[in-house]
Amino acid sequence: MDNRPIGIFDSGLGGLTCVKKVMEIMPGEDIIYFGDTGRVPYGSRSADTILKYTRQDIRFLETFDIKFIIIACGTASSAALPFIRSEFDMDIEGVLDPACKKAAALTQSGKIGVIGTHGTVRSGKYLQTLKRIDSGLEVYSKACPMFVPLVENGYTDGEVARLIAAEYLQPLKDAGVDTLILGCTHYPLLRGVIHDIMGEQVQLVDAGAEAAVYAKQKLEEKDLLCSRGYGAAQYYVSDAVDNFTEIAGMFLEKSVDGSVHLVNIEN
Ligand code: SIN
Repeated sequence: MDNRPIGIFDSGLGGLTCVKKVMEIMPGEDIIYFGDTGRVPYGSRSADTILKYTRQDIRFLETFDIKFIIIACGTASSAALPFIRSEFDMDIEGVLDPACKKAAALTQSGKIGVIGTHGTVRSGKYLQTLKRIDSGLEVYSKACPMFVPLVENGYTDGEVARLIAAEYLQPLKDAGVDTLILGCTHYPLLRGVIHDIMGEQVQLVDAGAEAAVYAKQKLEEKDLLCSRGYGAAQYYVSDAVDNFTEIAGMFLEKSVDGSVHLVNIEN
């Protein structure tokens, strides 16, 4: 048993998809969340900048006495974690491996789509990881850079989101994928729109939620789950506390007033 908190970070709000799942399947755990709202999006940054931000995010979480870090950011998980994992003496898991394992287990046709940011698609890590699991898989990737600004600004439904999503998703529909990895943790907030466009027959894999499930397995294996029945969360953001508080409250379906703090992690 270990009652220290779990650390979770993302470039902004998207990692809340992982937080929600952690709260559902590990309700006793305390959570320290960092959303880099002052520097979102990560996905359109250079590889070097994504590495720098990811290192800073991990170091910030390490200042708390945490037992495990979940990188609930598709871009940091694919374009940074594989290169910097060995720099940290801490259990760190990203969304990449859990999402790929789930998609490979779900697909019937062997045709898997991956949507993510430019940084994620450019890294090629989803493709590599899926091929490592099963070299026969056909993988179709598509960067959807407008999705993160839509989510960060609350446009998760409606005509604008639908038009943009239809444009991005058409090549994956044409390819006939039966499983689609939402490789950026912001994208599940657009789940309704993506589901409507892809159709009933396409299974959507929520990378943030899969990372939470995987983290639970890891914590169980290492006997690191907490012994309490009910945990609490504290949220740290690098800008726009009010916007985060409002959208997080709506998304988590409970108020986060008073637990969102502004922090400057560049110092
Ligand atoms: C972004 O900051 O561009 C999106 C984060 C992610 O890839 O999950």
